[in-house]
Amino acid sequence: MMTNALLIIGAYLLGSLSSAIIVCRLMGLPDPRTQGSNNPGATNVLRIGGKKAAAITLLGDSLKGFFPVLAAKLIGVEPLILAAVAMAAFLGHLYPVFFRFEGGKGVATALGTQFGLSWQIGGVVALLWLFMAKGMNISSLAALVSMALAPVVVWFFWPAPELITMQIVMSLLLFWRHRSNIKNLLSGSEGKIKNEQGPES
Ligand code: G3P
Repeated sequence: MMTNALLIIGAYLLGSLSSAIIVCRLMGLPDPRTQGSNNPGATNVLRIGGKKAAAITLLGDSLKGFFPVLAAKLIGVEPLILAAVAMAAFLGHLYPVFFRFEGGKGVATALGTQFGLSWQIGGVVALLWLFMAKGMNISSLAALVSMALAPVVVWFFWPAPELITMQIVMSLLLFWRHRSNIKNLLSGSEGKIKNEQGPES
């Protein structure tokens, strides 16, 4: 009971460490909440600071989802707790206690939690993202398509109702956080990845 609570709280706190804001501060770049799309995420860091800063942000945001879920899995908690740990890390990224609850859109952290559940789940969702990103060259569209399919991927590899439900809620929240991107996609004004590579790329 105590261990479960610690896992969930720890996951939320870890998720609250916004890699984009921290990386931008450490690299002397502008605050991602005030530039580009104003989103503290890897795509916006790509715009602001280039590939290296974006790659570190992507890795940091993924690992903070990956480690708590992996730890919970290794301890052998039941699927409900595993789902709660994944959701806590994701919510920490969206609503970080350390940054006035102004967080990102959750793609990298969601992917990290999926890799924490199993390399097959994370691997298939990552491949879907890459396939879409390569084909359409739009980061948000790749994220929306891969995360829309993520519940099916979870169902296929680990059909626990708690995990499927958690993934559905996570994907719905992720869509909600991408409202402005969806509007831009519908109007044809969403930026292409190749045009968004910042100064140091
Ligand atoms: O999916 C997250 C990211 O792809 C969208 O970021 O900065 O274009 O809103 P951004």
